[in-house]
Amino acid sequence: MNLCKSRIQRQFNRSALNYDAVAGMQREIVDELLGERVVEAKTAVDLGCGTGYGLARLAKLTQADLVGVDIAPAMLHCAASVCPAARFSLADIESLPFNDASFGLTLSCSALQWCELDQALAEIKRVTKPGGQILLTSFLSDTLAEWRRLWGLDDTRRFLSLTEFQAKIDQAGLSSARLWSKTYTQRFLSFHDAVSSVRDLGAGNAEAGTGKGLMGKRQLRAIQQQVEVLIDDQGYIELPYEVVFVRARKDRVGG
Ligand SMILES: C[S@@+](CC[C@H](N)C(=O)[O-])C[C@H]1O[C@@H](n2cnc3c(N)ncnc32)[C@H](O)[C@@H]1O
Repeated sequence: MNLCKSRIQRQFNRSALNYDAVAGMQREIVDELLGERVVEAKTAVDLGCGTGYGLARLAKLTQADLVGVDIAPAMLHCAASVCPAARFSLADIESLPFNDASFGLTLSCSALQWCELDQALAEIKRVTKPGGQILLTSFLSDTLAEWRRLWGLDDTRRFLSLTEFQAKIDQAGLSSARLWSKTYTQRFLSFHDAVSSVRDLGAGNAEAGTGKGLMGKRQLRAIQQQVEVLIDDQGYIELPYEVVFVRARKDRVGG
């Protein structure tokens, strides 16, 4: 998989201002992940912090010094106004500008699906202190499955099954990790609303070598017609997001 970082950055820069209006599901995901005990740490980082909801939640739950990381400057700009006490770093999760063992708590919600997972997990483990807590969410293979098929998006490698995701966590050496999954469904009454939601969540395609330039008007119209037939039949279109949650500790020895 060859993800185009500049396209991901552009997508999220564009969607930053609209993001909070459509990110109700993302909020629920953060709340579910942080619903159980969060360790007290001196420093905590939110990787792919977006507009700062996770940081704001951490500020209420811990006394830690907070750091927000994102690849999109517009997202960091929003996050800084939501959580002014935090420090921010414009960086890629796959190559973090921090020393080994910098954070007692490492959080990343709804961002890892934009990364080469092995590399991102290696970085997450590297920057977390031995004994530190690692809290992650990402998206699994049922996410937008029918929608992605309609649009001809060949990005199945980006969305793993739960078993495949568990194998990546095991390979990364997070042996104590606990994983669970949950499906969130969004319902839309029009083609336009469904397209806008996927776009504003920045959930479009991001593989290098693909793009909207490759889709002609006729193809777009055909997709719209298929979706509208579905909406006429059942009154709505549902877009499922299958989410994986991970709660782990970095081993104290050999980690
Ligand atoms: C769907 S948003 C989630 C934002 C926030 N964590 C939340 O739960 O609301 C994904 C975020 O990850 C960021 N992102 C994507 N790939 C990234 C990467 N390789 N490194 C850092 N941030 C990344 C995007 O810019 C975006 O802000």
